Amino acid sequence: MPSDKTKRAKIVAGNWKMNGTAAALAELSKLGAVLPLAPPRVVICPPAPLLFRATQAGSPFGIQIGAQDCHSENAGAFTGDISAEMIADTGATHVILGHSERRDAHHETDMEVRCKVERAWAAGLTAIVCIGETAQEREAANTLDIIGGQLAGSLPDGVTAENTVVAYEPIWAIGTGLVPSFDQIIEVHDFIRQRLTRRYGQATAQMIPLLYGGSVKPDNAAMIFQAENVDGALVGGASLKAVDFAPIIAALAAS
Ligand code: 13P
Repeated sequence: MPSDKTKRAKIVAGNWKMNGTAAALAELSKLGAVLPLAPPRVVICPPAPLLFRATQAGSPFGIQIGAQDCHSENAGAFTGDISAEMIADTGATHVILGHSERRDAHHETDMEVRCKVERAWAAGLTAIVCIGETAQEREAANTLDIIGGQLAGSLPDGVTAENTVVAYEPIWAIGTGLVPSFDQIIEVHDFIRQRLTRRYGQATAQMIPLLYGGSVKPDNAAMIFQAENVDGALVGGASLKAVDFAPIIAALAAS
């Protein structure tokens, strides 16, 4: 019998963070030209001003587009914010929510993230919900408690394999070149699957894609993708250039 892993969607998402102007969209056609024959789902999350143009640049290649955040309300006096409905209106299909950089710099709480997830779903977007521990929390052996708490607080009821992707990003691994050991990645991803199973039931939980994020590079991607409960990656720095991102996509396609 095939393992559940083979039945789940494989996804590579690139988080461009606050990098890139229109010239960067040329990377999408470079990437499109070298995608494997049966590619995983590829989602590029550029800065908001590029969303609409990115959907146009990505669509000939089946590259989907996501935003990096949305507001928890649909409209109103929220200067500088964008709503899930506006994101969907650009043709984007995904939105990253609860990234550690937003939890940290914008003091986003689990409760706010949960409200944003519900808005994203209402707009028809798939939420890529990020969780992860700090270095201090890991050193104090609190990783699983932190992850469990973030999952419980950030995810609403009603999660399905179509509307939600969970990304485990240890904060100390983001942009540092540090990556957890293979055993640590397995431990956290297995734990996430168990918690999702307890809350949403086996049939749903076994199909929810789980991504690893934090210093994923062409030379470590294949190792990371071997973990039973890793269904892809959320990639920062290495997603900016097609020459770096393409081998990560190829490694997932081959896994
Ligand atoms: P890096 O791949 O640059 O470590 O960033 C990871 C990340 O934060 C993706 O959301």
